[in-house]
Amino acid sequence: MKEERECLTLAIESSCDETSAAVLVGGRTVLSNIISTQIPVHQKFGGVVPEIASRKHIVNIMPVIDEALRQAKVELTDIDQIGVTYGPGLVGALLVGVSAAKSLAFSLDVPLVGVNHLEGHIFANFLAHKELKPPFVALVVSGGHTELVLMEDDYKFEVIGKTQDDAVGEAYDKVARLMDLSYPGGPIIDKRAQNGKPHYTLPKVKTENDLDFSFSGLKSAVRQSILREERENRELNVDDMAYAFQHAAVDNLMSRVNIALERYDVKSFVLAGGVAANREVRKQVEGLKTTYPNLNILQPPLWACMDQAAMIGLAAYTCFNKGIVAGCEISALSNKQLNDY
Ligand code: KG4
Ligand code: ZN
Repeated sequence: MKEERECLTLAIESSCDETSAAVLVGGRTVLSNIISTQIPVHQKFGGVVPEIASRKHIVNIMPVIDEALRQAKVELTDIDQIGVTYGPGLVGALLVGVSAAKSLAFSLDVPLVGVNHLEGHIFANFLAHKELKPPFVALVVSGGHTELVLMEDDYKFEVIGKTQDDAVGEAYDKVARLMDLSYPGGPIIDKRAQNGKPHYTLPKVKTENDLDFSFSGLKSAVRQSILREERENRELNVDDMAYAFQHAAVDNLMSRVNIALERYDVKSFVLAGGVAANREVRKQVEGLKTTYPNLNILQPPLWACMDQAAMIGLAAYTCFNKGIVAGCEISALSNKQLNDY
C-alpha cells in the first residue's frame, strides 16, 4: 500500500461486446464504472462478430480506462492493484483487456489478478448487498452460461448444475432471430412477452441430472411451431410466442432452483448474469421469498446484471485479500471454469 488510505482497485472487463473499466476504493465502494457497449455495431449481423469485437475493444480500451480514472478523480499512479477478466469469453476480446491490464500492472509495478467472468457476475451481488455471506446458491444466467453454483466459502465454488446445450441468454437470442427480432433478443422477447397470452404450447424440458438445464429442445420447438404456422397459413403471433418461450425457459430455470434450495443447506440465494434482468425471472425469484421465508433471497440491481467492470473489481479485491495474485504470465482462457486457478 502506497500510503495510509484505502486500497484503489482498477478493474477491466472485455470478455464479449462491452468494454468496461471501474475504479473501486476499499473493494466495495465503486468510484466509477464506465461501459462502452458495442451492441449497435453487432446488431446488423444479428449477433456478436468476434473479430469485430476484438477490434472495437482495441479502439475503446484506453479511452474507457481514462474515463474511469477521470470520473473516480484518481491518477493512474494512485492505483494499488489491477483485476482483469481473463475468461471465459471470446478469446480475442479477452486478450485486449488482459494485455492492457498486464501492461499497466508492469509499468505501475502493482499486483495483477485474473478474474473469472462468472465469479464477477456472482460478486455483483456483494456490491449491492453488503450483508451477503456464503454459504449460498447462485443461479448464473448469461449469454454464454447457465449454472447453479454453490458458494460454500469466500472463494470456494462448486458447480452443482449446468446447461447441457445452449445457455439461456443464447437461447433467447436465437429464438429472437427465428422471429426476425433484433439483437440482443433477450430484452426484446422479455418486452414482447409482457403483451403475450397463453396460446402456443411448448414442451417441458427434462434432463438426466435434475439440477442441469437444457434449452436447445425449446428452441427447436419454437422453430417447429413457427414452421407450422407458416404451413397452415397463419400469421405468427410474436407476442404470444415470446410469452410461451419465456414461460418455458423460466420454468426450466426455476424448477432446478427449487430442487437446489431443498437439497443444499444454505442461508441465501442470489441471481446473477445478464438474464437476471429478465422480468419473469425477477418476479419468480421474488416469489421464492414466500416459499423459503428463512432464506435471504437476493437479486442484483439492473445495472449490476450486465457485463461491467465493477463486479470484476470486487472479485479481484477479494482475491488479493486471500493472497491470490497472478503474474504477468496470465493469458486469456476462453473456457475458464469456476474454481480453477
Ligand atoms: O451477462 P451478459 O451481459 O453477457 C454474458 O456474459 O453473456 O448476458 C447477455 C445475455 C444476452 O444473451 C441477452 O440477450 C441476455 O443476457 N439478456 C436478457 C435480458 N437482458 C439481457 N435475457 C432475457 N431477458 C432480459 N431482460
Ligand atoms: Zn456476462
